[in-house]
Amino acid sequence: MNNKKIRIGLFGYGCVGQGLHDVLNNSKGFKADIIKICVKDRAKPRRIDMSHFTFDKNDILNDPEIDLVVELIDDAEEAYNIVTTAMKKGKNVVTANKRMLSCNLKELVELQQEYGVSLLYEASACASIPIIRNLEEYYDNELLNSLRGIFNGSTNYILTEMYNNGADFDEVLRKAREKGFVETDPTLDIDGWDAKYKLNIITLHAYGLLMDPGEVFNYGIRQVNRFDIKYAREKGYKIKLVPYVGKTDDNTITSYVLPRFISRDKYLYGVDNEYNGVIAEAAFADRQFFYGKGAGGHATGCAVLSDISANSYNYKYEYKKREQRVVTRYTRNTELEIYFRYRDDNDMKKLRFNEITESFVGKEYKYVIGTVNLERLYDLREELPDINGFIVVI
Ligand SMILES: NC(=O)c1ccc[n+]([C@@H]2O[C@H](COP(=O)([O-])OP(=O)(O)OC[C@H]3O[C@@H](n4cnc5c(N)ncnc54)[C@H](OP(=O)(O)O)[C@@H]3O)[C@@H](O)[C@H]2O)c1
Repeated sequence: MNNKKIRIGLFGYGCVGQGLHDVLNNSKGFKADIIKICVKDRAKPRRIDMSHFTFDKNDILNDPEIDLVVELIDDAEEAYNIVTTAMKKGKNVVTANKRMLSCNLKELVELQQEYGVSLLYEASACASIPIIRNLEEYYDNELLNSLRGIFNGSTNYILTEMYNNGADFDEVLRKAREKGFVETDPTLDIDGWDAKYKLNIITLHAYGLLMDPGEVFNYGIRQVNRFDIKYAREKGYKIKLVPYVGKTDDNTITSYVLPRFISRDKYLYGVDNEYNGVIAEAAFADRQFFYGKGAGGHATGCAVLSDISANSYNYKYEYKKREQRVVTRYTRNTELEIYFRYRDDNDMKKLRFNEITESFVGKEYKYVIGTVNLERLYDLREELPDINGFIVVI
């Protein structure tokens, strides 16, 4: 056990930065000091003395006394600059920035090796759920058949409100914005990008493959309407936005983010509002379910603290699945059974169903149930969010 007090340089004092500060102050016996906090807005009132703050990132990056940089800002590009500079200067880093990580995974893995530093990011995927360290340590030799879950609290809140209160998507989105649950530009959440960033991070630790975000299909909940919710309710389902990664054969995986019908007997049925859930299907350990808060200052701060603590005993991700090279291929050539609600027959034809097992024509809407190829959905990825129709995996 290392008894040295860790000296932290913190970037960001927003929701998670302040959450971490509280969690750290209440963790008696844990030896860490936040030496400096770098923020952006000079005019913003702060709840602690101004002497703790700086507006110049170099005050942290160039301070030889600071051993650990904790990056918790909301700007992915600047986060990339801060994290890579810190690593190149030989500092260990903890971050929660899934977008920055997912868009630069390959380089960030290489920098850790090149500079002999550690980069930990448990909070980046499902906030308080300790999925990354479990994949690294507990499932390090386990053959995982698949991982899926609810990785985005904002869309889960919207879907929960629509289901419970029969509200319209736009109305709930407005409410979610007022509560600060979604960004000013909600695209990242509602089109499934945020969930995909987390999925790619999880894919690296579960299967060892470095996926570029552009290669993985994501489709969100922008087009969900009352008809879909009513249909789901009548069948005893809820609709959830579910990222999935799983094997198609021994050395190949596929992954995507799509809404999915969840029946009452499934774990994810009870995961509502801002909560997240992850289901791991393992060859021998069978099915395991992780449940916890996917957002919030204190919940996310706990995951960051756990990384800071791991850092104190020189913990590094070993990317064991990457070394094992059990999975070597990625494919989008896989069949999905889907429900597609639509208005215009031309939109339905665009999906090129391989087989249709059920169809319905009503006054307002039509729907079909059948199988499509994921590759076809991927080809339509630019068009699909604007089509007056909604896809749900069965
Ligand atoms: N909120 C969650 O529940 C949650 C969960 C998991 C992961 N995350 C991730 O955690 C990170 C932080 O999220 P958050 O919710 O805490 O964001 P936030 O509440 O919006 O706070 C962002 C902080 O970053 C600071 N900042 C922005 N640009 C900066 C720059 N160029 N230099 C220095 N400081 C800068 C802001 O400074 P000012 O205070 O001066 O404005 C603010 O303190 C994000 O990557 C997010 O994706 C958040």
